[in-house]
Amino acid sequence: MRLAGLAFPLVRPLLHRLDAETAHDLTIRALKAFPAGAAPAGDSRLAVEAFGLRFRNPLGLAAGFDKNAEVPDAMLALGFGFTEIGTVTPRPQAGNPRPRLFRLTEDEAVINRMGFNNEGHQAALARLAARAGRGGIVGVNIGANKDSTDRIGDYVAGIEAFSHLASYFTVNVSSPNTPGLRGLQSRAELEQLLARLNAARAAQAKRPPMLLKIAPDLRQDELEDIAAACSGGAVDGIIVSNTTLSREGLRSTHAAEQGGLSGKPLLTLSTRQLARLHLLTGGAIALIGVGGVHDAASALRKIRAGASLVQLYSALVYRGPGLVREILDGLSAEVSRGGAGLAEMRGADAEALAHQSGRGT
Ligand code: FNR
Repeated sequence: MRLAGLAFPLVRPLLHRLDAETAHDLTIRALKAFPAGAAPAGDSRLAVEAFGLRFRNPLGLAAGFDKNAEVPDAMLALGFGFTEIGTVTPRPQAGNPRPRLFRLTEDEAVINRMGFNNEGHQAALARLAARAGRGGIVGVNIGANKDSTDRIGDYVAGIEAFSHLASYFTVNVSSPNTPGLRGLQSRAELEQLLARLNAARAAQAKRPPMLLKIAPDLRQDELEDIAAACSGGAVDGIIVSNTTLSREGLRSTHAAEQGGLSGKPLLTLSTRQLARLHLLTGGAIALIGVGGVHDAASALRKIRAGASLVQLYSALVYRGPGLVREILDGLSAEVSRGGAGLAEMRGADAEALAHQSGRGT
């Protein structure tokens, strides 16, 4: 897999001449074609304990890259400490018409309005069952079909289908590309959703941790509601954040496309929300920081804002698979330099980052 990192500078110009989704499909096919090697041993000082799981390092692949659980082992072999498949919905669905994925190259950003295109629970389930003995932390991100008449029922179906196989669940109520979905983040709806999900979990033989994934476009009072609804063990963790609907200071031609924006311009906003939530929850709920992570410094910023774990997706498009090792090496260097472990750094800059203004990096 180190080879993939070395080859990326050569392959990138070719991939980036293709439509973004075609390039992504080709990447998945290539990853499937080359058998995943063993995951590299890595630096044991980077290991993290969170929501009852032991992660060999804090860097994970965010949802949306491997929607159908086709390449979890290839991604773990790149060095990621964990990977998250999905979003999966009960029934397969085609998503929005193409084009629906855009590179904003000058901004190192992506806009997507995929709309939960995925092969449905059964397809992902079969693939996860086939690799079940291989270990590694593979989270399952669950959602609702666009035409569902019982959205909460779709999430419940996710819990029932995957509890025996998921390392953890992510309840995705923050995609901007399924109309009305983000309404589930309001206090009353969220409390109802979490109550139903926890009742469904109680009936399972295995009960993986359950995380909630939220949007970055929430006011302070909405964040307070989420912190309240998630307290008292209603969830085991919160992922901050999904893509943003905001557009500011972008230079690329595709900036006006509809959909969710991710990558570098999301870093400041998503890190600010992460820091605010860390302060609101007093560090009592494990947080995963995601949005704009593109190097070791931005990953460290998430940890200093309050994250136990970090995820990325968009930066892979621009920096390639070698980025995983680069970030992990950077985290190791920081631990050596500062003499403090990652746990001691967690939340150290939350006050300052909660008040940081502006967007972008
Ligand atoms: C995503 N993301 C996403 N999130 C999710 O919970 N379910 C999903 O199906 C998807 N799909 C998806 C597709 C594409 C093309 C992108 C770029 C992103 C959001 C992703 O997991 C992450 O939260 C954001 O992209 C922010 O992180 P980065 O990309 O800035 O590192």
